[in-house]
Amino acid sequence: MLEIDNLKQELKRINNEAAKIRELPVEKRADFGKKVNARRQEILEKISEVERAMLDTAVEPIDITAWSGVNEPMPEFYPTEMGSLHPLMAEFDRVVEIYQMMGFDVVEARQLDDEYHMFDSLNFAKEHPARDGYDTFRTEEGFIPPAHTSTMQHRVLKEYRKNLEAGREIAVVVPGRVFRNEDVDATHEHTFYQCEGVYVSEDCSMSNMLGILREFFEKYYEQKLNIRTQPGYFPFTEPSLEFMIEKPKSLGGKKGDYLEMLGCGMIHPNVLKMAGIDPEKYHGFAWGGGIDRLVMLRYGLDDVRYFESGNLKFLREF
Ligand code: DAH
Repeated sequence: MLEIDNLKQELKRINNEAAKIRELPVEKRADFGKKVNARRQEILEKISEVERAMLDTAVEPIDITAWSGVNEPMPEFYPTEMGSLHPLMAEFDRVVEIYQMMGFDVVEARQLDDEYHMFDSLNFAKEHPARDGYDTFRTEEGFIPPAHTSTMQHRVLKEYRKNLEAGREIAVVVPGRVFRNEDVDATHEHTFYQCEGVYVSEDCSMSNMLGILREFFEKYYEQKLNIRTQPGYFPFTEPSLEFMIEKPKSLGGKKGDYLEMLGCGMIHPNVLKMAGIDPEKYHGFAWGGGIDRLVMLRYGLDDVRYFESGNLKFLREF
């Protein structure tokens, strides 16, 4: 039992004892009263002492500069330091800036979406096995943490349709965080980042798309690159391509070392139609690719798990 509880019980006992004074013969009462009162005074003082001590510890201020380096032993002396942007976020800024310089608007993706934007608005047929390629999570209410930034395509097309009506093009990139039900290993994470691009105009073509993508990758890696495409399949593009770059020598690549960087293609007429855009009049292309992979190549990282690890030793290298 706590000290304070013991003291309070003792006080109660003394008070009961004091009540017995009436049972005593008159000549003994004064002496008895004095003794009991002295004892009661002693206990009351102890109680307020303990209460004061309890109050002192309760209001002791929290030391917000206390050591919190979970990955490292506590040093004898440590300076407090400013935090910094996570390397992925810093790279994201770079990516978005390159697209902005090319004239693209930026719309941030959601981290919780629904069946319609994840699948239906992207021309995934009901029950089509292509849905299985995007094995993601679901909340109990049926919402979906998006498996790709393409979930934003429908919203972007609808929102920016007015550009077309005003005789201009739609040119938007969508950075976002995405989620997949992956077995995590050096090249797979359940949480990662993508950047989506959407372009629509009256007369754009596949070669415009390849030009934009080449420009982006050459700016990002600050050098000329060899590019290549191969056929792919996505329900929301037709035709669909996988876009590859030859791994530059400066980043440890050999001739013929091609890396798939993103998926892309001409936006499927059904996707345009669902957003209220006439596919007879307008054409569009779209692409989406992982940011983690882009950054890993730039810095020669071999394990995607570093990014989500919260490992300060890793983070401080940037
Ligand atoms: N969302 C696709 C993925 O994560 C990539 C992609 C392919 C995005 C084609 C696009 C596109 O916008 O047109 O696998």
